[in-house]
Amino acid sequence: MDKLTALLGWIDDRFPLTKMWKEHLSEYYAPKNFNFWYFFGSLALLVFVIQIVTGIVLTMYYKPDAELAFFSVEFIMRDVNWGWFIRYMHSTGASAFFLVVYLHMFRGMMYGSYKKPRELLWIFGVLIYVALMAEAFFGYLLPWGQMSFWGAQVIVNLFAAVPFGIGEPLSEWIRGDFVISDATLNRFFAFHVIALPFVLAALVVVHIIALHEVGSNNPDGIEIKKNKGPDGIPLDGIPFHPYYTVKDIVGVVVFLIFFFAVVFFAPEMGGYFIEPPNFEQADPLKTPEHIAPVWYFTPFYAMLRAVPPLLGSQFPGVIVMGAAIIVLFFLPWIDRSPVKSIRYRGLCFKLALAVFVVSFVALGYLGVLPSTPGRTLAAQIFTFLYFAYFVALWFIPKFEKTKPVPERVTD
Ligand code: HEM
Repeated sequence: MDKLTALLGWIDDRFPLTKMWKEHLSEYYAPKNFNFWYFFGSLALLVFVIQIVTGIVLTMYYKPDAELAFFSVEFIMRDVNWGWFIRYMHSTGASAFFLVVYLHMFRGMMYGSYKKPRELLWIFGVLIYVALMAEAFFGYLLPWGQMSFWGAQVIVNLFAAVPFGIGEPLSEWIRGDFVISDATLNRFFAFHVIALPFVLAALVVVHIIALHEVGSNNPDGIEIKKNKGPDGIPLDGIPFHPYYTVKDIVGVVVFLIFFFAVVFFAPEMGGYFIEPPNFEQADPLKTPEHIAPVWYFTPFYAMLRAVPPLLGSQFPGVIVMGAAIIVLFFLPWIDRSPVKSIRYRGLCFKLALAVFVVSFVALGYLGVLPSTPGRTLAAQIFTFLYFAYFVALWFIPKFEKTKPVPERVTD
């Protein structure tokens, strides 16, 4: 033990190890009233690690070449020891990542975690979300199946809708060719395996640094730093380690039970996690009957299809889809209520948030289905309601009757 203490002392003289341990774990005081919704940050970290580790192993066997890619994935599934397991963990991990991040974002919206002083923390979060979408999009081309190919074709073609002669050269620049080809596969591989994982890792680090600078919000939306004891420690705070490290392990265990249930028993999830046309090799001469992105993109895809083309151009739809994401960056300034948590906000806010969630899920559902006139109308209504939420947030505080927020956290 003495030797260990001496070693630690030696390191501490050269690197702030103990200081960092204290600052971020044993003396990071988190509100004592965290609930179920606070599991998803650590779960997002866990899924990130799963994706990196399984991704490294997949890269050892995968071939980023239009002639070989599809068969290298088949080789992983059939011949590589435990290859099927690694691949299904990675494909299930992609969906799990979005599920966890969507729940994590919803928690933030419920408890007003984006409000002052956490605006930058929220903005880093939205940047993570955008980077995650790019990461998933690039990764989906790699198995070189029919849906990989045609999905990428549809999405890259959206860039061609940009007017003023910019669109066509822009989409060719992204593809590196006039159609999705070997050149596209190689660059998407580079982005998926190197560039975006780096960006994501860096963003996660700054996300956590920002969080620890201002401190966590909580289900009551109270700033625990406002009530400190004589020792300078928040009265409603408890050290993150060991209290929340242990609590988070419970979340991890429950999550892994569901995660591996999917990996072992339903890795394709009825075509929602791995789409059936992707078991066929990409064929540039054969368009699948119905092209739909994976479920986590479908709310935005439904918006894209809901907006009618203008003079034959899909550009208005692209703008609406982009706006649906961009608006999230401004949430801290759109919501003007001084009350953070849903617990103390009025009925209007609760109803608005419920309508927002229903609209997002409904758009997701409509986005998987082939469009019909009735479904397009439904998608238009839900797209309207999605944006109406942000308008409502701006006006609700003007007339909202909020409940008094207690001084100290409840429960
Ligand atoms: C790779 C993805 C992400 C990781 C690993 C991650 C990680 C974390 C962790 C560990 C926490 C603290 C624990 C918790 O509050 O649950 C946290 C808090 C937070 N995250 Fe994330 N996050 C990610 C994505 C996002 C996204 C996409 C957003 C929003 C757009 C976001 C917004 C927030 C906010 C507002 C908080 C503070 C919540 C509060 O204190 O109430 N995060 N994040």
